Amino acid sequence: MTDVLRVGVAGLGTVGASVVRLLQRQAEALTARTGRRIFVAAVSARDAAKERGVDLSGAAFVDDPAALAASSDIDLFVELVGGAEGAALASVESALRSGKSVVTANKALLAAHGATLAALAEEKHVALAFEASVAGGIPIVKTLREGLAGNSIERVYGVLNGTCNYILSRMELEQLSFDQCLKEAQRLGYAEADPTFDIGGFDTAHKLSILTSLAFGTRIAPEAVDVEGIERVTLADIDAAAELGFRIKLLGVAQRTAQGIEQRVHPTMVRKTTAIAQVMGVTNAVTIDADAVHELTLVGPGAGGDATASAVVADIADIAKGIRSAPFGLPSASLRKLERTPVQRHEGGYYIRLSVPDVPGAFAAIATRMAERRISLESIMQHGRGGVSRRTGEGPVGVILITHATTEQLVREALDAIYADGTIAEQAQVIRIERE
Ligand code: NAP
Ligand code: HSE
Repeated sequence: MTDVLRVGVAGLGTVGASVVRLLQRQAEALTARTGRRIFVAAVSARDAAKERGVDLSGAAFVDDPAALAASSDIDLFVELVGGAEGAALASVESALRSGKSVVTANKALLAAHGATLAALAEEKHVALAFEASVAGGIPIVKTLREGLAGNSIERVYGVLNGTCNYILSRMELEQLSFDQCLKEAQRLGYAEADPTFDIGGFDTAHKLSILTSLAFGTRIAPEAVDVEGIERVTLADIDAAAELGFRIKLLGVAQRTAQGIEQRVHPTMVRKTTAIAQVMGVTNAVTIDADAVHELTLVGPGAGGDATASAVVADIADIAKGIRSAPFGLPSASLRKLERTPVQRHEGGYYIRLSVPDVPGAFAAIATRMAERRISLESIMQHGRGGVSRRTGEGPVGVILITHATTEQLVREALDAIYADGTIAEQAQVIRIERE
């Protein structure tokens, strides 16, 4: 190991520019902590002429990220381009093949190719580090991989997407529209280049699949995540949740079951009294249920340049010190195949919002279909915009059911029967309630 570490950074957008800035700002402290002088020797982006508000005068500009990754002028490659394929994949493969360690914040890449990239890194005896890929500035990867090594984990869940949490929080607190909130999240640099990854739940699914692998020692399996986004969540649901003592969060949940592992991403009702319900704005939180620590929650900024750069720089510092962990906590060959428990087997409480015609017997018919499947109701609320137990006037009436614990399959069967009866005017809104 020499006393300098020459870093190549591909991608100089929200995260890349912040990483270069942070490495410069913390240069002395990082040298003191790692024993090496860490400096950015070369960079890559699409537009060499773009002003990025950061001093790049000492760094060579290389047009092609894969060429930068293979260059003998750098010791470590940092991928901050984004995307599961294209320049990101080509450059990470190029760096690993040329025997260089890689740091990336790219969860889409890891979800799609994490297993093969980890195997390649092991074969080449280099590091593949991705602390920034999950929950921004929260050191959750290190926590699961090292800090909780003595635990058997039952469940890991949390708010893993800053953009969605920002949108849901502002909709609730300021009664703003979904589109207004999304535009603001994009302006602040939280959203993905294609924000459907955020609001559709896919970004959370990518992150969850990384956490699952680390928590349960299974091969990363993004295709085994059941995913729903926040597009169908309305202000009516957010208001109703508040009146019932809940908040709506987009959660990613990975849970050990008798059959295997359940991985699901969906809008979720969480009781307002829980720690996860207090997490507002771009903040993320991850809770781990494990045998020795019982419950551990980490909370912090989940997106944005500085917070993400903090995690990238932590990985760079580890590599500078010569630390090389198995990317997913175990040697690739020891990771087990994930046995999927589909969401149809999920057990829990449900929020169901129905639009019910204001005619005698309509509600009784719904209650009958629930009772036939032994779905027991914790509460029933008639809900119109503006308050509980208020009617919106003529036409259908909003009715909200909160069920006690039941199974997804029974809820879906009951709703199918209700649709077949023609009792309700439109598709029901169904939101799962996460147990504490
Ligand atoms: P971004 O602002 O869109 O920046 C992307 C950068 O990559 C830009 O500098 C762009 O160059 C460069 N680039 C794109 N295609 C390229 C190509 N073919 N060749 C060379 N350079 C190319 O994205 P970001 O928000 O920084 O995100 C970067 C990565 O971090 C993504 O994987 C993202 O998922 C992840 N991440 C982001 C956050 C966040 O809060 N933003 C948090 C955690 C993780 P130009 O500038 O010249 O166009
Ligand atoms: N778009 C992501 C989010 C960035 O909003 O959480 C952080 O991974």
